[in-house]
Amino acid sequence: MPIPDRPTVDSPDPRWRVRLTDDGSPTLVEVASGQAMHSGCGARDETRHVYLEGSGVSERLGRQQPTRVLEVGFGSGLAWLMTADRAVSNHTPLFYQALEIALPPASVIRQLDLGRFLDHPALLDAFCGWLAMTEPREASPDRPDVRLEFRFQTATLRVLLVDAVRWGAARSAALPTFDDERFDAVYFDPYSPEAAPQLWTAEIFAVMFGELQADGRLVTYCVSRAVRDALATAGFAVRRVPGPAGGKREVLIASPAVSPPSHER
Ligand SMILES: C[S@@+](CC[C@H](N)C(=O)[O-])C[C@H]1O[C@@H](n2cnc3c(N)ncnc32)[C@H](O)[C@@H]1O
Repeated sequence: MPIPDRPTVDSPDPRWRVRLTDDGSPTLVEVASGQAMHSGCGARDETRHVYLEGSGVSERLGRQQPTRVLEVGFGSGLAWLMTADRAVSNHTPLFYQALEIALPPASVIRQLDLGRFLDHPALLDAFCGWLAMTEPREASPDRPDVRLEFRFQTATLRVLLVDAVRWGAARSAALPTFDDERFDAVYFDPYSPEAAPQLWTAEIFAVMFGELQADGRLVTYCVSRAVRDALATAGFAVRRVPGPAGGKREVLIASPAVSPPSHER
């Protein structure tokens, strides 16, 4: 089937363009790589289905359970905004840590007008206000890893401006993470294995395994055989589940397996 030609317009920053996806929500396209941040079938539907619902985070927040999320690839911040929106609606603490190498400027995020998809549009206003004052916004190998923090009501965002591969190498050399610092979910959302093969490895997944609670979940949009094998090598039990309506046929949920792998940290 031919790929539909979805409307794409310039943003205030030449590094990103804005594309309208099929559910009426926008996504960003990174100009240098040509990579879109979400499926053209629907950025909002994909985010809700794969990340908030597939991970169990939406349900946890609905039960008012304090929740910790680790995201690989912060991108437009859509997953953060939708997760924080749910946490605020449920008066529930959320700690959301994201790894990112280049944060888009506030002017680009404002153009997406994501407030229409939130119960608390003030969250977007406050986030963009924070982003406008945030420097630096890019990871650099010459600079110690930068940690940026933003709070809105019950939700706390920490962005680590770092290459996830470098962060993973540091985490695997460090002491194991304490139980109360582990995450309930990993939103694994870098560009595709073809575009970023260095991120979809058994070594990176082993680090994610060490960061997750025993009942936590790693969720992602990619179900390729190679990715499932790498996750299994890292100790995950992997399930393919139906994707969002009108979107990818299947997406992936990985849970720490009952028997840990021999190389568990
Ligand atoms: C698919 S987009 C993420 C979309 C995002 N989850 C959202 O809700 O908008 C992938 C992101 O990963 C970032 N990225 C690419 N390589 C990376 C790396 N090595 N380490 C950390 N982030 C990376 C890109 O800059 C991009 O913003």
